[in-house]
Amino acid sequence: MKHANLSPLLFLVPIVYSAPLEARLAICRDVTFQVSGSAQNRNLSSLNLADPNATLAAFEADAFPLVPVSGTQTLAGTFCEPTVVNENFFSLQVLFHGITGNRGYWNALGGLSTGYVPYQPQNYSWVDVAHANGYPTLALDRLGAGESSHPDPVAVVQGPYEFALYHDLAIQLRTGTTGQLLLPYENLIFVGHSYGSEIGNSMAQLFPEDFNTLILTGFSKSVLPSFFGVVLQTPEPAAVENPAKFGTLAAGYLTAPVELTHTNSFFGSPAQAYWDPEASYLYWVREDVVSVGQFVSVYVGITEAPAYRGRVLVLTGEQDQAFCGPGSPVLGFAECGSLLPDTQALFPNADYNWHSINATGHAINYHYSAQAAFQVAHRFLAGQRYEG
Ligand SMILES: *[C@@H]1O[C@H](CO)[C@@H](O)[C@H](O)[C@H]1NC(C)=O
Ligand SMILES: *[C@@H]1O[C@H](CO)[C@@H](O)[C@H](O)[C@H]1NC(C)=O
Ligand SMILES: *[C@@H]1O[C@H](CO)[C@@H](O)[C@H](O)[C@H]1NC(C)=O
Ligand SMILES: *[C@@H]1O[C@H](CO)[C@@H](O)[C@H](O)[C@H]1NC(C)=O
Repeated sequence: MKHANLSPLLFLVPIVYSAPLEARLAICRDVTFQVSGSAQNRNLSSLNLADPNATLAAFEADAFPLVPVSGTQTLAGTFCEPTVVNENFFSLQVLFHGITGNRGYWNALGGLSTGYVPYQPQNYSWVDVAHANGYPTLALDRLGAGESSHPDPVAVVQGPYEFALYHDLAIQLRTGTTGQLLLPYENLIFVGHSYGSEIGNSMAQLFPEDFNTLILTGFSKSVLPSFFGVVLQTPEPAAVENPAKFGTLAAGYLTAPVELTHTNSFFGSPAQAYWDPEASYLYWVREDVVSVGQFVSVYVGITEAPAYRGRVLVLTGEQDQAFCGPGSPVLGFAECGSLLPDTQALFPNADYNWHSINATGHAINYHYSAQAAFQVAHRFLAGQRYEG
């Protein structure tokens, strides 16, 4: 590949903002995409979220009637082009955060439109590591988060409709028709966290040609056992909990009101996993929202993806309460054990890789082990295999 003819592209970028470290590694700007799709969402009107036992039974049965949804939405994000130019320049990492997250998850809980200064980015910024390795990144606000559209949180903002929208985005990114990014990207890397990883799993099943490679962090094939621990967070309407930030959102957009129960699910027990308490505090205080539809989608979404033949890396904290435990240390310890190798069952025809990060809970980007996890992900992208 010839590098000399790439640099003029960097000067065509219309608006450039940068924090000092970002400026050293990449040139970043905010972008928005118009995406359309149609899907069969679930009719959730029979669900009684106030009764956890009945809710879990309804998730296990997954017998909700289906309702067609369609339409066009805006997806917002931050696009960064690395200043380190190598053969990875045409491989775009598309980053999908988890529930109550937004694009800031990938950048030390801050940057550009998030309104926050990144916290110790030298420790916690995934995108800085990606840029240092020469990858461009697109950190999205998923549907219903950050600056993206916030349609009906119960009927519309659910997994199936999200998959259709991200499929449209993938086509636009591949064909170079976003009107926002200058290059087409024929190599798309899906990077997810938690529910974002579940989306990658579903994209692999429904649209196996969209993403060449999947990195699924904070993920396994098993999420239902965490339901009772996760609901201990007692999610509340975000508009009530934080009117200054979320006052315009419908009541079906939820957020976690209590730091301790939030930390219990996303970080776990300090006896099992190691992190800086300031990181878990900021993870809570800077949290975004989850729609009721997405909360349901977390628990009914995991699927086998036999048509997917790309490379997959499942990268999860060994003590992940959400995907390897009861959802909160109040209910018991977490341990992935054989769950990560067993998750290969979801990807029977892919090049399946897995790696467990010790002393680490669900929010792997915010534990002391974060840099080690980021290095594993980028060694995987460079071709290394991981089976443990
Ligand atoms: C959803 O199901 C309820 C019955 O539980 C029904 O009254 C309602 O019309 C359905 N909504 C749609 C959009 O189909
Ligand atoms: C939920 O089920 C458990 C047993 O699995 C039972 O002990 C508990 O009382 C039930 N709670 C409600 C509200 O029905
Ligand atoms: C994982 O970390 C814990 C706590 O530091 C330690 O006791 C244990 O030996 C480690 N396990 C492995 C497999 O390294
Ligand atoms: C994180 O960054 C701070 C400040 O630069 C540093 O003192 C600390 O050792 C780092 N921690 C880890 C786990 O890398």
